Amino acid sequence: MKIKNICCIGAGYVGGPTMAVIALKCPNIKVTVVDANTEKIKAWNGPLVNLPVYEPGLADVVGKARGKNLFFSDDIKGAIEQAEMIFMAVNTPTKTSGEGAGMAADLTYIESCAKDIAKYAKSDKIVIEKSTLPVRTAEKIKDILEENSNGIKFEILSNPEFLAEGTAIKDLFKSDRVLIGGDMTSSGQLAVQALVDIYRNWIPKEKIITTNVWSSELSKLASNAMLAQRISSINSLSALCEKTGADIGELSKAIGMDHRIGPHFLNASVGFGGSCFKKDILNLVYLCKFYGLIEVAEYWHQVVKINDYQKNRFAQKIIEYCGGRLKGKKITVLGWAFKANTNDSRESPAINVTEMLYNAGADIEIYDPMVEKKTIYSDIKLYWRSKKASENITILDEVKPEDLKNDITVIITEWDEFKGLDYSKTKLFDGRYIISNEMIG
Ligand code: NAD
Ligand code: UGA
Repeated sequence: MKIKNICCIGAGYVGGPTMAVIALKCPNIKVTVVDANTEKIKAWNGPLVNLPVYEPGLADVVGKARGKNLFFSDDIKGAIEQAEMIFMAVNTPTKTSGEGAGMAADLTYIESCAKDIAKYAKSDKIVIEKSTLPVRTAEKIKDILEENSNGIKFEILSNPEFLAEGTAIKDLFKSDRVLIGGDMTSSGQLAVQALVDIYRNWIPKEKIITTNVWSSELSKLASNAMLAQRISSINSLSALCEKTGADIGELSKAIGMDHRIGPHFLNASVGFGGSCFKKDILNLVYLCKFYGLIEVAEYWHQVVKINDYQKNRFAQKIIEYCGGRLKGKKITVLGWAFKANTNDSRESPAINVTEMLYNAGADIEIYDPMVEKKTIYSDIKLYWRSKKASENITILDEVKPEDLKNDITVIITEWDEFKGLDYSKTKLFDGRYIISNEMIG
């Protein structure tokens, strides 16, 4: 089956970059990315410097394909009708109410996509789970599609995305692997082959692996859990290093040189952030409990608990350093994004750490090179428990040397532009202290 027309529902951090790369690498396929958020679609069609997602290299890829075979639209119905293959790349946050609240994935958005597909499809479609989903979600999607199908046939594939923000384009160009799960029926395998053929335009054959649907769905949750587990492991050891005089950097290096362990993802930090690690592990914990695997659930839950412990520990250290109270102290927080090279602040440790410093009495100045001011204000409003949070908080447009004369500067996100700051001099001459991630270790 030769695919000529693709639609992707969800123009976010996954849908935007992945579809831009597919369009660039497959010039003969028309790719339309749709979203219910019309403002976002406007931004995707607007100036390349203001795309809704900041990723190194993304503007270049979008600039090359947009208007040729890459389109951003809010006409969901039209795009579904035209496409032979539909990716679902909508958000799957943690549920906030109902059964499994605080743990299970909220599948409202994915279900609403499936309903739209069933409603608007006039011909057979291959429907692809790009979002990260609990194992066996394809069953639910199938039920929704078949209930409303009017005789149309749908094949459901799982094709989870493994890109990391900040390196999305690099990751998509040169993926470690592409995973495709499909039914073992002949029509299922034809659909798998159609998707393999698309990736084969730039991904080597040996890096494309095909599995059954459930292995594919679960591999995504398991991959994120294993990655986050490494961070919580090293962060837990950073606490022991402090008690014993061992150095966490030296420890990471020594551990990582064992080829069975490897050197990546062993950097101690303020704690991991991002929209996925926490929600995916909680989802895994919920699934384990659902299947009665209590010990397994507890094992993975600990990864999230250590992460919360680490964020608290970092803020507490700064407070203790100042004698237990921050009243009258002015603190500059450098970095609000959850990691460098992204404008995404979802679950950023900056949100929690800054709240604790603020609650201990500090006046706060915040600066991030890419996260918009309105996002920082809305993070504070949404996620801080402190009601009066807006007094004594300033968000800076740039970092000037005079801002760094505050009592303390905390570097939360390791943006390149902060690496150039002259820490030693200011510490020596101004009596000002910069506490960075490394101080934890
Ligand atoms: P996002 O919030 O950036 O984007 C999701 C988009 O879907 C939003 O723009 C929203 O308006 C739109 N949407 C929701 N429901 C819709 C509907 N019914 N119709 C049309 N549009 C709809 O989310 P994201 O970060 O791109 O993540 C998407 C999925 O990919 C999640 O399941 C996530 O776990 C997974 N994932 C994310 C990353 C990442 O780096 N962000 C990496 C791998 C996997
Ligand atoms: C992560 C995974 O790396 C991707 O493979 C996955 O596709 C994605 O989640 C997802 O499913 O959303 P992402 O969260 O974008 O990607 O970024 P990471 O590079 O994994 O960083 C996550 C957090 O871990 C950041 O806060 C980072 O600072 C922290 N981290 C990372 C550490 O604290 N130490 C490390 O050694 C590495």
